[in-house]
Amino acid sequence: MSENNEGTKLTNVIRDLCIDNLDKEAIWEKVAEDYNSRDDLSIWDDLSPVARNHHLQTHIREKLLKQGKTPCNTEELVNLYTYMYMLMHIDAFNVAKCKTDNYTFNSIYKVNHEEVLLVDFGCGSGTIPLALAEGNKSEEGFNINYLGIDIQPRMLNLAKNFLESSLFSESLNVTIDEDIIRADNNIEPKKIIFVFSYLFSQPGVNKDLVKFVERIKSIMKSYATAEEFYFMYINIDYKGEIYKEGEKNKQAWTEFLKLLRSKNMVSGSLGDYIKKLDYSFRKFNNLDGNNIDKFGGTRPVYTKIFRLY
Ligand SMILES: C[S@@+](CC[C@H](N)C(=O)[O-])C[C@H]1O[C@@H](n2cnc3c(N)ncnc32)[C@H](O)[C@@H]1O
Repeated sequence: MSENNEGTKLTNVIRDLCIDNLDKEAIWEKVAEDYNSRDDLSIWDDLSPVARNHHLQTHIREKLLKQGKTPCNTEELVNLYTYMYMLMHIDAFNVAKCKTDNYTFNSIYKVNHEEVLLVDFGCGSGTIPLALAEGNKSEEGFNINYLGIDIQPRMLNLAKNFLESSLFSESLNVTIDEDIIRADNNIEPKKIIFVFSYLFSQPGVNKDLVKFVERIKSIMKSYATAEEFYFMYINIDYKGEIYKEGEKNKQAWTEFLKLLRSKNMVSGSLGDYIKKLDYSFRKFNNLDGNNIDKFGGTRPVYTKIFRLY
């Protein structure tokens, strides 16, 4: 495990706009209270700083965020989610974007990326734009053509703050309208990539599958200049949420793919197979927002990118 206490341009922005706003005292108090209420003789005050920090991370991940499944409907939960998962999902995307099978995200996006509209379903606080901005080598802020959709308005608020930060081009026009955030660079898109990153395992996602397909179709229609359309799946597994319909267990991703097929939106030769990749990831190691760890171990990420018609 290596440690970087300096932070980078990206992690400093996340610290300033998100981690610094957390109610750290209240979180520490709650963790200590929880610890002392266990049927165990050891007490919080006797723990080492490392052990305390371990309990803090576990408390945030398991109790407050329920492994990313808690609806982030308060500013505090949005900030906690971003603190815990943003760097991890950026690192998963960074691996996914260059290694999927038929196409790669990079090969579609990198040439004239200003002319590619990214439509990010379940965008959260803006993981995908932040990942792309971090990879931006120019002195100028990153110029993105972006539309994010999320059911949690507070997620969109933080995404807006990020898109208006120094990481992005000052000329972007960033607006929120209902469940959509738009960062408009005033360039008519030639291609559209629909990204679904860690959305398909969200509780209740199955209820919106038909709506997702309709929205994709309507967005495809509304950009008359766009000639190529792609879909990108990124998730912890290859099935998505498991839910019951009648007596049957169904898988959100499998059902969604069936819907796309039934509407002839994918090539007849598209298979179900989804590639599994491994990624190593960074995370904030404590609530000061400077202390970033790169973990030696890896996590799986399942990803697929294909054309839509
Ligand atoms: C696990 S987070 C992933 C966020 C981001 N895409 C990432 O990769 O870090 C899932 C996001 O999907 C949103 N979400 C959950 N169900 C949704 C739905 N039915 N429609 C749109 N967004 C949804 C949640 O509010 C949350 O922001």
